[in-house]
Amino acid sequence: MEFSIKLGNPEKQRCGCVVVGVFEGGKLSDAAQMLNQAAKNTLSDIIARGDMSGKMATTLLLHNVPNIPSERVLLVGLGKREEFAARQYLNSIRAAMRTLFTTGAKDAVLYFADLPVAGRDSAWCISQAVFAAFETTYRFNQLKSKAEKNKRASCKIQFGLLSGKSTAPQNAALKQAAAIGQGMKLTKDLGNLPGNICTPSYLARQAVALAKAHKSLKVTVLEEKDMHKLGMGSLLSVTRGSDEPAKLITLEYRGTDKKQKPIVLVGKGVTFDSGGISLKPGAEMDEMKYDMCGAASVLGTLQAIAEIGLELNVVGIIPTCENMPSGSATKPGDIVTSMSGQTIEILNTDAEGRLILCDALTYAAKFEPTTVVDIATLTGACVIALGHVASGLYSNQDTLAQELLTASEQTCDRAWHMPLWDEYQPQLDSNFADIQNIGGRAGGSITAACFLSRFTQNYRWAHLDIAGTAWKSGKEKGATGRPVPLLTQYLINCVEADN
Ligand code: BES
Ligand code: MN
Ligand code: ZN
Repeated sequence: MEFSIKLGNPEKQRCGCVVVGVFEGGKLSDAAQMLNQAAKNTLSDIIARGDMSGKMATTLLLHNVPNIPSERVLLVGLGKREEFAARQYLNSIRAAMRTLFTTGAKDAVLYFADLPVAGRDSAWCISQAVFAAFETTYRFNQLKSKAEKNKRASCKIQFGLLSGKSTAPQNAALKQAAAIGQGMKLTKDLGNLPGNICTPSYLARQAVALAKAHKSLKVTVLEEKDMHKLGMGSLLSVTRGSDEPAKLITLEYRGTDKKQKPIVLVGKGVTFDSGGISLKPGAEMDEMKYDMCGAASVLGTLQAIAEIGLELNVVGIIPTCENMPSGSATKPGDIVTSMSGQTIEILNTDAEGRLILCDALTYAAKFEPTTVVDIATLTGACVIALGHVASGLYSNQDTLAQELLTASEQTCDRAWHMPLWDEYQPQLDSNFADIQNIGGRAGGSITAACFLSRFTQNYRWAHLDIAGTAWKSGKEKGATGRPVPLLTQYLINCVEADN
């Protein structure tokens, strides 16, 4: 897909489709009004006949509109003018994209960037329209024997501006959103791949390929013997039951002076989580192929920032392995020593994410980070707490939580600040080791974060539990590409804060 900004009025556009909004009650947006005038009230006549009410996210496709050079005109209902805010805009733009891509139009000019969205500017409108275009055209059919060609993905999308020129924020938004959209696509593809293809070695090869495609990226892959030397007894305890070798992938993005300390992103990369000896029940176990979505979001984010050429340094760390039962698998009650020196009693082998993350988080300190953010499909309890709407956000510093929430708000990639209070810590006390790997049913997402907090005391750290947001279940089963928008926006904001 190609995106650009197009200056000029809608009644002048010679293209496959011109897309304009209509508010409820038949009130035309500015662009629709211009079209209507040129077309001698064709639009208002259609509205008067009752064929387009302006109800939010309804669409009406018109052909051969008099005096309009464009092949088609797509009217999109925006809902009530006085209620027009982010959610209404998103629903309408998604509906517009869905209908647009059912047509044969090869290019389209959308007049959505100038719409009056409460509390949001034109740059935001453009970003969200780009995301919606990516979302509606995404297909995962690389594993179907007779895949239909995805024609939609080649459509040229232009954002029409009525004003004389485009602004720097609008142009930046377009470029950044396209890079984030591509990053999300990578994240979705990796997530949707099955566990027999997307193994730890496969993820390592993807990281190598990414580094090959971008000069600003450098990759290192550690093998199990290297992890032994580093003392990563916790990470290695998870992979013991699997025939696939574990990997520890590091991608270093250099966007500015080497002396500038990096931000580190750590992504959970369990390519299949059977639960291990604490085996999961059979229902929906296939979805545990998505247990590497944290890792995939790190790769997607790094691709996006490399594409944008962000001026900062970022390190992505991906501990990746399978969690499988076998004769050599770790057993409940086993005690292991983590890289930090802390001993861990593994009471449930299904709480494996924190076991691989804790060693990766200890390893992260070697990069002398200003900030570390880990991203993990960590707990079913987080899905119970926040559903599929918000990711769980934890931090040992409120200002960092606030920065991530700001990025989340900007991109509509929701997160919710959860508590990390010391009162929860005793739930992890073990009779036999320094700490145990589960804290009971109460507050399961919080105690998982508390576990990680024992390994992150020497730096500014945040944790995103994306168990409910990384993929969708049921008929629409598929990876979402979240939280790539949140993470990338956070990094963009870090650069702007420095300047
Ligand atoms: N990968 C799962 C978390 C998960 C479960 C994400 C369901 C999305 C949907 C994680 O490794 C896990 O199994 N966590 C356990 C922890 C428990 C044993 C303390 C869980 O949430 O049940
Ligand atoms: Mn598990
Ligand atoms: Zn898991």
